[in-house]
Amino acid sequence: MRGESKLVYLDNAATTRYIPAAVIKEYIARISAKCNPSRGSYRDAVDLGLNVYRVRESIKRHLNAPSHEVVFCKNCTEALNLGILGYLSERGGRVVTTVTEHNSVLRPLGYLEQKGKIRYTAVSPSKRGEGVRSSDLLSALTSDVRLVVVNAVSNVTGIPNDIEGIGALCSQKGIPFLVDGAQGLGHLPINVAKCGIDMLAAPAHKGLHGLQGGFLLTNRQDLTPLLYGGTGTKSLSLEQPLGVEGWEAGTQDNAGICALGKGVEWTYRHLDKIRTHEDKLIGYLSDELTRMGEVKAYGYGNGILAFALQGAPSSWVGDRLDEMGIAVRVGLHCAPLMHRYLGTTKEGLVRVSVGYDTATRDIDRLLYALDSLLAER
Ligand code: ALA
Repeated sequence: MRGESKLVYLDNAATTRYIPAAVIKEYIARISAKCNPSRGSYRDAVDLGLNVYRVRESIKRHLNAPSHEVVFCKNCTEALNLGILGYLSERGGRVVTTVTEHNSVLRPLGYLEQKGKIRYTAVSPSKRGEGVRSSDLLSALTSDVRLVVVNAVSNVTGIPNDIEGIGALCSQKGIPFLVDGAQGLGHLPINVAKCGIDMLAAPAHKGLHGLQGGFLLTNRQDLTPLLYGGTGTKSLSLEQPLGVEGWEAGTQDNAGICALGKGVEWTYRHLDKIRTHEDKLIGYLSDELTRMGEVKAYGYGNGILAFALQGAPSSWVGDRLDEMGIAVRVGLHCAPLMHRYLGTTKEGLVRVSVGYDTATRDIDRLLYALDSLLAER
């Protein structure tokens, strides 16, 4: 059946497939005249450097982070590593996080714990079907906690954590607060200053409608670099400069950064429309799945819905949907503690995630396919 009709792409939480025309146009223009800002003083290099600066300012403006720096990274994982390893490797102490985190948070924490640098606690939401609230963290926030790391939205269920309430609690206790914005940005209007966020990690290729890449927004200057090397500045010094220039060692994906700038502008211009569209599609899917007896939904929101077909491994469902031209993500979604919390580690879950270009007919194709899977069992 594959190849007979267009792929129904329902894996936008892994990578958002829709790319605004302005993003592609910018990328092509920038790779067509590629050069190296901060390394050359000729016109093209200066122009590109200025543009990269404008992208930083645009990100800060849209996220209301006037006193933060933007550090461009290879991806959100690298941004989280810079926040976590960069902040904790010289410091150590206790860390509080949540069971809803992705391995890009849990593995750097696990690494530091194995090295004897830190100990960490992962708190769970107190209510099924809801995210983590500040009251869930309260008893874990002892005086030796050095960092709190929380994602804005679960990449498994789409359920948001209360980052505003948690941020207020961290500010009150003077504990730095790092947010993983991977599934939240471009879905929720995250306000960095209002939520008391010290560091926010973001991917370019998901809700912000860019290409590859990511960034860390940080108001902390005391981060140990992940990489050491050329910065195009202070070249006589054999020591890595501090701050953004030091954290961005080596040549950056400048065309990708400029394209991300267009993605950010496009996303924030359309944010209300995106949210309404996602809610409509996911609401419709949820209602229809409720009508199917053998399907159990585990949560939904922010363009995501996760479900299990009773008695069937999620990998089997994923394979059968693939044969019918439908792309979803199945298994554990790099979020082992969340699946343990949900009781779904054995079979995993089927995750559906919609985007700006997903149509009701795509959801109807999925529903039709699920009906036929249920009928054949
Ligand atoms: N973290 C991405 C996902 O949830 C890749 O699929």
